[in-house]
Amino acid sequence: MSNSDWQRRKEQVFARGMGNIFPVYAEQAQNAEIWDVEGKRYLDFASGIAVVNTGHSHPDVVRAVRKQLDAFSHTCVMVTPYSNVVELAEKLVQVVPIDDARAMFVSTGAEAVENAVKIARAATGRAGVIAFNGGFHGRTNLCMGLTGKVIPYKKGFGPFTPEIYHAPFPAAYLGISAQDSLDALHNLFKADISPERVAAIIIEPVQGEGGFYPVPDGFLASLRQICDEHGILLIVDEIQTGFGRTGRMFACEYDGVEPDIMTLAKGIAGGFPLSAVIGKRAVMDAPDPGGLGGTYAASPLGCAAALAVLEVIENEALCERAEAVGQRLETGLRELQHVHGDRIGDIRRKGAMVAIELVREGDVNQPDAALTKALSVKACELGLILISCGVRGNVIRVLTPLTIPMEQVDEGLDILAEAFAACV
Ligand SMILES: Cc1ncc(COP(=O)(O)O)c(C=O)c1O
Repeated sequence: MSNSDWQRRKEQVFARGMGNIFPVYAEQAQNAEIWDVEGKRYLDFASGIAVVNTGHSHPDVVRAVRKQLDAFSHTCVMVTPYSNVVELAEKLVQVVPIDDARAMFVSTGAEAVENAVKIARAATGRAGVIAFNGGFHGRTNLCMGLTGKVIPYKKGFGPFTPEIYHAPFPAAYLGISAQDSLDALHNLFKADISPERVAAIIIEPVQGEGGFYPVPDGFLASLRQICDEHGILLIVDEIQTGFGRTGRMFACEYDGVEPDIMTLAKGIAGGFPLSAVIGKRAVMDAPDPGGLGGTYAASPLGCAAALAVLEVIENEALCERAEAVGQRLETGLRELQHVHGDRIGDIRRKGAMVAIELVREGDVNQPDAALTKALSVKACELGLILISCGVRGNVIRVLTPLTIPMEQVDEGLDILAEAFAACV
């Protein structure tokens, strides 16, 4: 059966809302390569959206999960827990930049965010949550409300939970400075919600779906100060940025800021569904026993994978490797910008979280979503999986596995150059 046969079958039984970017049906994947059902090879510059930081089917991760699977796959952590969830919590409370931290586990990023907000509300006795324009926090109702992008995430799905407010995200390229953003936040406190009714401010240290905009230096520290002043909790959503992706274990380490709560998912378990909320002990212990959990929370398979992932990140020095991969990508993209300066308006990078923003005539106000789409389609044709993002749909984001061989980084860059030549 070909890709198009499978796509036809899918379209006959699947809800339209759950689409796929490429009509490519994966059959096998290893490190940074995927082979489809037709035997065609692709380089994976998406990592299943920042999930397989340790590469597809890393042998250590596969071995750990196999061993767990041979023992048991599920007992429910709330009924009869198991040792690997404790070991994982012990390790994670050590690696996060939070003193005296406590952990809880669920399955998806959205669930982690939901629980972070539940915990913040329980700890403060307040309802309000402030998020940022362009931010993405997931597809459940509370997370949709927090997400700062209507199409396609919120369109037709309201009403959303009350007491959610948005401030502009500081994105230098879009002309929004850190000061603009802080001024807007203070204005929110004057116009919409008094700070003593705000439970939490939630922010991604580098906006993912929103367009790979990193917070400016010092911005998280400013938020920390505002939070401390008003008894507000700072939730840092590291679901896309965590586990070595940005060249540090967690992106908020760049600012030296201690969050009250962090949400972790995606790269945590190398492709197995697991997510975590980690925060300060007093905050995390606010909900009563039984208030947090879920049938599949802290799957033992996910925990086994996550323990292996942490070892791989350390043994293979993947934070350092992320920086090296990111630098190589940036060098190649700057060469491309040299040729297509009028179309590549900006190149942004934090470690191996790299993006190019596509415009017309070098003008930030002429976003080129059509070129972005064409490039990603052409790249796929040429054997490179490359996905887009951005509130304006005009950003190509590069999220290779951190374990990708450098020759494959170069090979992918060559394909991107070829795609550019064909599309502009
Ligand atoms: C920053 C961030 N938060 C939350 C989520 C939601 O995670 P999930 O899709 O696992 O629910 C994502 C997913 O892309 C994300 O990037």
